[in-house]
Amino acid sequence: MIVVEDIHKHFGGIRAVDGTSLTIETGSITGLIGPNGAGKTTLFNVIAGLFPPTSGRVLLDGDDITGLSPHQLFSRGLLRTFQIAHEFSTLTVRENLMMVPGSQSGERLLDTWLKPGKVRQEEEEIRNKADEVIEFLEIPQVADELAGNLSGGQKKLLELGRTMMVDAKIVFLDEVGAGVNRTLLSTIGDAIARLNQERNYTFCMIEHDMEFISRLCDPVICMAEGKVLATGTAEEVKNNEEVIEAYLGTGVKNQRTADPAR
Ligand SMILES: Nc1ncnc2c1ncn2[C@@H]1O[C@H](COP(=O)(O)OP(=O)(O)OP(=O)(O)O)[C@@H](O)[C@H]1O
Ligand SMILES: [Mg+2]
Repeated sequence: MIVVEDIHKHFGGIRAVDGTSLTIETGSITGLIGPNGAGKTTLFNVIAGLFPPTSGRVLLDGDDITGLSPHQLFSRGLLRTFQIAHEFSTLTVRENLMMVPGSQSGERLLDTWLKPGKVRQEEEEIRNKADEVIEFLEIPQVADELAGNLSGGQKKLLELGRTMMVDAKIVFLDEVGAGVNRTLLSTIGDAIARLNQERNYTFCMIEHDMEFISRLCDPVICMAEGKVLATGTAEEVKNNEEVIEAYLGTGVKNQRTADPAR
């Protein structure tokens, strides 16, 4: 579905992404791992249209989408979540979900005067969709809670929920499990697996938790210093010599356990 061809993204002298090529197959849950500063988020930002690459191309189903805006990509079904959750803290969970769909009639002032019926009907459809998402994620107890009051993990779940408000084809998840407790992590994992199986979502997810990655992802791609080091099953990548070396080479922070992705 996605082909990344020799992407470079430089910030001044920093080669954040330094010649990355990879493929994301339709229907897969592809894992992206790598030590801190490997260029994972930068690669996501390039793919999702936050900024253009220094060079290289991104293809979606064969179409060159390099440099398209997040809005244009959104309408093609390419969505992403952020490493730091982006909720509207003074709106409720339901309202946060209802903010997502793009072209609501109610946003056009004239329509609220000329076609109040249409606006109301649309709003009701979006509300129903939001309630469906709330049910799918099993979070009815926080539906009317202000998003700002949610726990870090619940905010991550809301991020995932926002991608369900439109018909996404491919979703890029940036550390959706980071800082999330075990129970909620398993809920998030279940939601991802179900979206993949029941709704044909393709996922690409950046994650540091190797257990979470192993449970969900095939294949797993490991990046280091802006390049792809290895691709394979979670087990293969975990045991790859270069991958182990890349993790051990990045300082004490990453040497806490024998697990290379920690
Ligand atoms: N906007 C920016 N301006 C300058 N340098 C940047 C910018 N964004 C990222 N970098 C640098 O690019 C490199 C890659 O960063 P990136 O955030 O992509 O890594 P990452 O693999 O997502 O790391 P982590 O696992 O810690 O989230 C780092 O050296 C970072 O400091
Ligand atoms: Mg990152």
